[in-house]
Amino acid sequence: MSHVRLPVNTPTGDYEVLIGPGLLDRTADYIRAATPAETMALVTDENVWALYGPKVARLLRDSGVRVVEVVVPAGEATKSWQRAGEVCDRLAEARLDRTDAVVALGGGVVGDLAGFCAAVYLRGIDYVQVPTTLLAQVDSSVGGKTGVDLAAGKNLAGAFKQPSLVLADTAVLGTLSGSEWASGLAEVAKVAMLESREMVDGLIDAASVILGRDEQRVVDVVLAAVRHKAAVVAADEHETRERETLNYGHTLGHAIEQVAGYGVIPHGIAIAEGMRFAALLAEVVVGASEETRALQERLLDTLGIERPLYPRDARRLLDAMHADKKARAGTVRFVFVPQPGHHIVTPVDDATIAHALDLWFDGDSERG
Ligand SMILES: NC(=O)c1ccc[n+]([C@@H]2O[C@H](COP(=O)([O-])OP(=O)(O)OC[C@H]3O[C@@H](n4cnc5c(N)ncnc54)[C@H](O)[C@@H]3O)[C@@H](O)[C@H]2O)c1
Ligand SMILES: [Zn+2]
Repeated sequence: MSHVRLPVNTPTGDYEVLIGPGLLDRTADYIRAATPAETMALVTDENVWALYGPKVARLLRDSGVRVVEVVVPAGEATKSWQRAGEVCDRLAEARLDRTDAVVALGGGVVGDLAGFCAAVYLRGIDYVQVPTTLLAQVDSSVGGKTGVDLAAGKNLAGAFKQPSLVLADTAVLGTLSGSEWASGLAEVAKVAMLESREMVDGLIDAASVILGRDEQRVVDVVLAAVRHKAAVVAADEHETRERETLNYGHTLGHAIEQVAGYGVIPHGIAIAEGMRFAALLAEVVVGASEETRALQERLLDTLGIERPLYPRDARRLLDAMHADKKARAGTVRFVFVPQPGHHIVTPVDDATIAHALDLWFDGDSERG
């Protein structure tokens, strides 16, 4: 099966996203075409290294590239300021210069960390994304946001840095665990809610094929999500208006990730919980219909996205929401989707959020 190419145009750079099974076999050709670098730091985590690292390193070396292997521990805790410093030290020790490049082979953690290092090392060198999780292929590898977490909150230090190329080999998704698969599907569900009723219905109808990881269907899903994100990012690279909508589910989602402890709950699973809560809050704040909430529940349930366990502590979750970048002038902001394809971004006061969280947790205990 051949692959698809999607151009992404932003004010600070244009690049292509390549999507399809088997692209990894030709990594070196594609990467060599996208950057003139002679030395490349191949940044990956331990799990991904074990599965695909030696192959990618060999292909690059065979094409004449000097490869510097940088393998970091797997997991969200790796997305730290300290780890970014260590990776930059490795680049300096290996004497990468301004014409060299970073290749991020892995999920969103590796992509965000390696991209951040590429953005700051020598004030910026080329970087290529080879996303290996569904979440990274549909979301984090596109758009140019890179960064690390701080103790106070997710992604609080970072930089905008567009990659030179995104190479999404859908065949590597075959080795993902069920929960990582569900985590990626949550971001796809988010896109569907923002995009249209048609996309929501399409996902529900195709759910069993998608859960079976059908080759063609997976390509279609990744393409649809990337297309949506590319369009939003092209219009608003630095998140002033449109791009804020991509934070649907992330207000509570990021708070859950922080309160549960970074890495305990996969990103997308926390985001899905945030979407479920946002739908309830939207009924209270903007008079959204119960029907939309029911539809979204069906979408998430059909895609096999289960609700996570985390501290049901409204106070701590609210504090975490305030630490988030999305809070402005001391007020927490929410993205609401009153109907598929329509969104509202609005500040919500603490008392209303706290009350809705209590309602939400009461509902949990009633459901048992
Ligand atoms: N920059 C952005 O715009 C953006 C957008 C969304 C999410 N993110 C960030 O992305 C991160 C989450 O990314 P993620 O869900 O990919 O997590 P991750 O990078 O931690 O990967 C999840 C797990 O899957 C393993 N893995 C990766 N590829 C594999 C494969 N092919 N087979 C088997 N196992 C594999 C990893 O080793 C890890 O254990 C979060 O930090 C989130 O904040 C960033
Ligand atoms: Zn996300």
